[in-house]
Amino acid sequence: MAENTEKKGLGALLGNLIALPRNIKDATVRHGRLNTSRARSQGVFGNVFLHIHSVRTHRWSLRKTFTFGLGIASAALFAILTVTGLLLMVYFKPTAAAAYDSVKDIHYVVPGGRIIRNIHRWSAHLMVATVLLHMFRVVLTGSYRRPREFNWVIGLVLLVLTLALAFTGYCLPWDQLGYWAITIGANIAASPDEVLNAVAGADAPDVGGLMKRAMLGSRFIGSEGLLRFYVLHCIVLPLAMMVFLAVHFWRIRKDGGMSRPDDIDEQDLAGTPKEDLAEEAFRPEKTYGLMALVKGSSPVVGRSPERTIQSWPHLFYYEMAVVMTVLLAVLLAAVLFDAPISEIANPSVPENPAKAPWYFLGLQECVSYSAFSGGILLPTIAMIGLALLPFVDRGSSSGRLLGGKSERKTFIVSLAIAMAAVVGMLAFTVTFGWMRNWWPDINQLWIVLINPGTVLAAFFTLYTLAVLVTTKSIRLAVIGYIACFIIGYVVLTYFGYVHRGPNWDFYWWPSQWPLH
Ligand code: HEM
Repeated sequence: MAENTEKKGLGALLGNLIALPRNIKDATVRHGRLNTSRARSQGVFGNVFLHIHSVRTHRWSLRKTFTFGLGIASAALFAILTVTGLLLMVYFKPTAAAAYDSVKDIHYVVPGGRIIRNIHRWSAHLMVATVLLHMFRVVLTGSYRRPREFNWVIGLVLLVLTLALAFTGYCLPWDQLGYWAITIGANIAASPDEVLNAVAGADAPDVGGLMKRAMLGSRFIGSEGLLRFYVLHCIVLPLAMMVFLAVHFWRIRKDGGMSRPDDIDEQDLAGTPKEDLAEEAFRPEKTYGLMALVKGSSPVVGRSPERTIQSWPHLFYYEMAVVMTVLLAVLLAAVLFDAPISEIANPSVPENPAKAPWYFLGLQECVSYSAFSGGILLPTIAMIGLALLPFVDRGSSSGRLLGGKSERKTFIVSLAIAMAAVVGMLAFTVTFGWMRNWWPDINQLWIVLINPGTVLAAFFTLYTLAVLVTTKSIRLAVIGYIACFIIGYVVLTYFGYVHRGPNWDFYWWPSQWPLH
C-alpha cells in the first residue's frame, strides 16, 4: 500500500488523493497478478464468493460428461430468480382484488416488466428441470453413496423447496391457471378426509379440513390464501433455500470434493484442462485439519492431490460457461415467448381440464383416482425411497456415469420394462376404466389403496427386488429403481400434458377437445 509519511498537512492529503486508485485496488484485491500458483490460491481463498471452492480441482470434475454443469445451472437459475423476483415484488400486489391487474401491469405497462416477468417464469420452469436432471445424474454416477449420504438428503430438501417455490409462484398471478392449481392443492390438503371418512364415516375427525384451512387461511380460496402463498414464495422458501444451499455447498467440500473413481487413468481425462503453469504447483505433501486432533476420520485425509489443477482459472471458466449458457437460454426464451396469463380467476367457471403445472402432472394422473393417494401417499413413499438410497446401498461413491457394462445393461432393460408397464397401465385404464367405473358404489378406501399409481409403485418395488435377487447387487437394484422412477415420471407427465382433456378424459390431441 502506498504510504505518504514524509509530507504533512495539505501535501500529505494531496499525495494520498493521487495514490487513491492504487490504494483502493490494494485494499480490495490483496494478491498480485494471478500468474503463480500461490497468487491463484490466494485469489481463491481470499475472495468471499470463490472461497467456497477448493483452490485445486480434480480434472475428473471438469469432464463435460460428469456433472453436465447441472448443479451450477440450478444455482445460477436460483440467483436469476432471486434478482428478477425482487424486481417483480416492486409492482406485484398480493390481494385477490389487485394481483391479476398488477401482473397485467407488469407485463403490459411497466417499462421492462414483460422481459423481467418472462425471465422469471422461464427460469422457474428450467430450474425444476435442471434440479431433477441433477438428481438423476447424482444417482447414475453413484454419487449419493458414502460419504455423501448427508448431502444427498440435503439435496432432497432442495428438491422439495424448488417444487414448493415453483408451485407457490405459479399461483400468484391469480389467473384461472393459478386459481385452479390452488384448488387442486387445496383438495390434496383436504384429502386425509378421504381415508378417514371411508374408515370412520361421518364421525371421522376433520383433519383434512384443518389442513386445508391452514393452507388457505380460510374455508375458501381468497386473499388470505394468496397472502400465505406470497409470504412463502418471497420470504420463507427462498431463505430456506439459501440456508440449505449453503449447507449443500459446504458439504461438497467436507465430503472430499466431487465424487470420482479410484481407478482414473490419463485416458479418462482426455479433453480436460491440464496445469498451465510451468512452475511447480503448490502441492502440500500433507494436510492437517482440526479433525486430526479428535477421534474419527476425515474423508479428505489420505487423498493425494495428483491430477488436480488450480481452480483459478479452469474451474471458474467452466462455471462461467455454464452460467452464460443458462443466461442465454432464458434470455432467448424470454424474448421469443411470453409467460402465460389466462383470464382472471373465476371460482364459478372451473377450468376444464384444470391442469397442475407440468412438474406435478404425473401426480395429477394419480390424483384423478384418489387425491390422498396421488397427492400425499405416493409422493411420501417416493421421497422415503429416495432418501433411503444411500443407506441401503452402502458401497462408496463410484463417480462414473453408469460405469461398467452391467450398469448400462440394467439401466436400458429397466427403462424398457418400466416403459412397457406404464404404457400398458395407461392403455388399460383408458380402455377399461378403473374400479369406480366397474363398481360405482365401491368404498373409496379400495381406490385409495389400489389405483394405477399404487399398482405401478408396487410393480416397481417388486421389479427392484427381482433385480436384486437375480444380480445380487444393490447398486444394480438402485439403477433399476431409478430407471422406473424416471420413466414413471416422464411418461405420466407427457400423458397428462398431451392426452388428458376436459373431464380428464383421454384424447389423442388437444385439437380434438370438444368446444365449450
Ligand atoms: C436447488 C437445487 C440444487 C442446487 C443448486 C445444487 C447444486 C449443486 C452443485 C453446484 C453441485 C456440484 C456440481 C454439480 O454436481 O453439478 C452439487 C453436487 C451434489 N448435489 Fe446438488 N444441487 C441441488 C439439488 C440437489 C438434489 C435435488 C440432490 C439429490 C437429491 C443433490 C445432491 C447432490 C450431491 C450428492 C452432490 C455431490 C455429487 C458428487 O460429488 O458427484 N443436489 N449440487
